[in-house]
Amino acid sequence: MNISIFGAGYVGLVTGACFAELGHEVVLRDVLEDRIAVLDEGRMPIFEPGLEELVERNRKRMSFTLDVAEAIEGAEFLFIAVGTPPTYSGDADLSAVWTVIDELPRDLDVERPIVVMKSTVPVGTGASVRAALDARGLASVGYVSNPEFLAEGTAIAGFMRPDRIVVGAFEETDGDRVASLYAGLDAPIVRTSVPSAEMVKLASNAFLTTRVSFINEIANVCELVGADVTDVATGVGLDHRLGPHFLRAGLGWGGSCFGKDVSALKQLAGNSGYHFQLLSAVIEVNELQKRRVVAKLQRRLGSLRGKKVALLGLAFKPGTDDMREAPSLVLAGRLLAEGADVTAWDPVADGRVLLHGVEIAGSALDALAGADAAVLVTEWPELRELDWSQAASRMRNRLVVDGRNMLDAAELRKLGFQYEGIGRQVE
Ligand code: UGA
Repeated sequence: MNISIFGAGYVGLVTGACFAELGHEVVLRDVLEDRIAVLDEGRMPIFEPGLEELVERNRKRMSFTLDVAEAIEGAEFLFIAVGTPPTYSGDADLSAVWTVIDELPRDLDVERPIVVMKSTVPVGTGASVRAALDARGLASVGYVSNPEFLAEGTAIAGFMRPDRIVVGAFEETDGDRVASLYAGLDAPIVRTSVPSAEMVKLASNAFLTTRVSFINEIANVCELVGADVTDVATGVGLDHRLGPHFLRAGLGWGGSCFGKDVSALKQLAGNSGYHFQLLSAVIEVNELQKRRVVAKLQRRLGSLRGKKVALLGLAFKPGTDDMREAPSLVLAGRLLAEGADVTAWDPVADGRVLLHGVEIAGSALDALAGADAAVLVTEWPELRELDWSQAASRMRNRLVVDGRNMLDAAELRKLGFQYEGIGRQVE
């Protein structure tokens, strides 16, 4: 099939490369000249494990363009994978979506092309787009909501081995055609109305964040009552009704999707006349969770003025260079405000643009040189494998706050470290 994808960001690129792998012809269109130039040279504008190789392997079925007409020509499916960032009010900004819709010409050369929405949009967007297409004389263009559930760092596996594929259509046959694009993948296809498909995406992210905020609150109580949240999560997660996923306590959730989607759902509910109380709490718990580390450091070090704190890991999670909404940003800001000297290291993410006033080190050991405390912010495997005895000899004070409960507490204590995790007992 001929697929055009509007938006060559993370979702568009992964989706395009995976569709090409499934044998479809894919044109990716973006408005950013640099991005298209980089892709034309065979390089990737984002870091996603396996993506460069996947694009390389499918190069003959993929092309990149800035030109709308070129993207639309012969396209049977017009995927929209543009960004929908939060506006000041917390609602989703749909301007990039509307630009694509407005750019569609009146006379399309394919009999019934289908606009397929991959971008995460508020419930009701499909109905608005449908009405806009009809009003512009494009009633013969189909519309299908086909939300993405890809997680950064594991996006290719997420596309090729999905838990489910959700297809919400106004016309049954349009839904059939979109579902057929995924032929060959072993996954249940959930067929719904357009609003239900839109809601599946928002509800999924809301539920995942609820689980994380829930276990973080359990962790905070564990600290007070002598329990260990990692054991508690294991015990809870083995209940098949609850499951083991998204029960890792830590510094809170970050990333470009969770924050904006949860806020968008909260605002959508509010705009529709419903106060979504639970989501407000989920968001607030997450805000506070990122800051709790500062209090932990203060309890051990007293005032942080002039103390050197090393942040290990900057990306919002391992396997990506993405720092959007990363807990590291809030933490760095709070520590600087308390007068601490902050150094930081990440194996992939480049903190120089976002972290003003933070010294970026070339290695984890360099970041730890002369430090009064190390804070593990992102659970990169490199940090588990770090030579912590060398770290001990480099630091001015042996204190580790493990914001992801990843390190071996007993091992660190043997090396003379004071170790503190999240929701675990402190010695
Ligand atoms: C998330 C969802 O997992 C995807 O299904 C969804 O498609 C995507 O958002 C999106 O809407 O585009 P992603 O943001 O890439 O994917 O990352 P996650 O793996 O979900 O992690 C998000 C954050 O939650 C990270 O900061 C992670 O450290 C944190 N987290 C996750 C926890 O603190 N504890 C956990 O148990 C799990």
